[in-house]
Amino acid sequence: MAENVVQLEDISRVYEMGEEPLYALKKLTLSIEDGDYVAIMGTSGSGKSTLMNLIGCLDRATEGRYLLNQKDVFDLTDDELAEIRNSTIGFVFQQFNLLSSMTAIENVMLPLVYAGVDKEQRTLRAQFVLQQVGLDQRIYHRPNQLSGGQQQRVSIARAIVNKPRILLADEPTGALDSHTATEILELFDDLVEQGITVILVTHDGEVANRASRIVRMRDGQITSDSRIRSKKNA
Ligand SMILES: Nc1ncnc2c1ncn2[C@@H]1O[C@H](COP(=O)(O)OP(=O)(O)OP(=O)(O)O)[C@@H](O)[C@H]1O
Ligand SMILES: [Mg+2]
Repeated sequence: MAENVVQLEDISRVYEMGEEPLYALKKLTLSIEDGDYVAIMGTSGSGKSTLMNLIGCLDRATEGRYLLNQKDVFDLTDDELAEIRNSTIGFVFQQFNLLSSMTAIENVMLPLVYAGVDKEQRTLRAQFVLQQVGLDQRIYHRPNQLSGGQQQRVSIARAIVNKPRILLADEPTGALDSHTATEILELFDDLVEQGITVILVTHDGEVANRASRIVRMRDGQITSDSRIRSKKNA
């Protein structure tokens, strides 16, 4: 059996706002196997982004245990957490989050700058992943010279340039028309084929149906968890 890359045990994330503490996540337990493709659904405010931020080590749980690649991340310093994040996790967001003053290839190379990769290798890796997402003809364009779908391809290239084990995508197709969304989802299929664990948040049932497992949330808890097809690389 494949090992768990994500193992959350009784995780709560509490925001102290006003009188009552707000439980964005409430004693949530969830394990995700290496190579799986998981869609997370749920109404607005149910805790999906909070969950993604925790899985991606952008945020810390208030209580509970989180094993990322079998390693307990609770006692890590912020620097250690950032190091793990850069080496194991790629992020894709609804609004692309590209730096507008930089070209596509500069945006994609950025994580490699932080990782201390030399310039020649950075360029080669960035060109390779931009080709992988079908954007090799646009590498010197800036975000405002690209369509939404092309910008999302750049952000996917940026997310995978460090060869992450896990790709987290929060509403990656939310800002795209359905044709472009399908193209982006085909890219995710390719990444799953390559063995990357993909976890995506969506409001769209059709998008979720492309995953292998659908987790539904409400009020910071999981209300259903169903495998709709076997893992691609099982
Ligand atoms: N920084 C914060 N401070 C206080 N409360 C927060 C903060 N971030 C999120 N919350 C609250 O936590 C709950 C979960 O928010 P979250 O963003 O995870 O929801 P979501 O499921 O991603 O919603 P959406 O579908 O609208 O993106 C909400 O009630 C939200 O108001
Ligand atoms: Mg959200």
